Amino acid sequence: MSVPIEPHDQRFPVLDPAVLQRARGMLATSASIVAFSGAGLSAESGVPTFRDAATSGLWTRYDPARLASPEGFAADPDLVLAWYADRRRAVARATPNAAHRALAARPDIALVTQNVDDLLERAGCDPTRVVHLHGRIDRDRCHGSCGHEEPIDPAVIVAELRRCPRCGALLRPAVVWFGEALPPEAWERAVAAMHSADTVIVIGTSGAVWPAAGLVDLARSAGAGIVVVNPDADPDDNKDHADIVLRGRAGEVLPALLSGP
Ligand code: OAD
Repeated sequence: MSVPIEPHDQRFPVLDPAVLQRARGMLATSASIVAFSGAGLSAESGVPTFRDAATSGLWTRYDPARLASPEGFAADPDLVLAWYADRRRAVARATPNAAHRALAARPDIALVTQNVDDLLERAGCDPTRVVHLHGRIDRDRCHGSCGHEEPIDPAVIVAELRRCPRCGALLRPAVVWFGEALPPEAWERAVAAMHSADTVIVIGTSGAVWPAAGLVDLARSAGAGIVVVNPDADPDDNKDHADIVLRGRAGEVLPALLSGP
């Protein structure tokens, strides 16, 4: 499948061809490749990131303790649901970008994402291939303990407090909030992928949120090479454990990194 390359945006660094070649060489000799992604993967689709300082990062404008924690939901469920309804509409409006499409064109690459959107799936990735460490924004789940989960209708997004049809507890977005555990199956699949990886491509994440961020060190300790894709000149945690840093936006770098010879 050929992947169209989008024009370069002058506000971002130009990809260094020599560094790109080194990264392509590393991938060419890797039997097992994992793409570990964060909000930067979906940034060019218009889904805001969380921590881009001076610009539009969600957590620079909103308080995660009020909007993305069990305590915030208990204190003001209507506020939390209204905020998630806005985010759900933004994700429903967004379309996959060139980075999602480049990953969809490489079914050999395992996908572990912190993103709660479904843009990888909508780009054509087999849903069973995508490990969502932080859940899915297009689903609701029971806030009690019965385990019920259901999809929402992206065409009819409402901020309405609803009850679990199985046990009567409140329903809430099926995402992981601050202070909550990651879904065990997703975590186990992610750890297994990191253990067997020859190369991990770390795409658009600040590495600020644990335990997800620790997966990169896990892979490195298990012997994987680390390639970071990020336009930030100094992606804090990432620079320390990267073998190769490709400075640029995911939508430009991934098509160049992952396309055929
Ligand atoms: P952050 O917002 O913390 O980091 C986004 C990263 O993407 C930054 O390092 C940016 O430099 C980079 N970036 C921005 N635009 C990019 C582009 N076009 N291409 C590539 N990289 C780009 O987002 P995450 O690391 O994903 O948790 O945040 C981790 C978790 O914190 C999220 O999953 C979310 C949040 O609270 C939950 O929803 C549970």
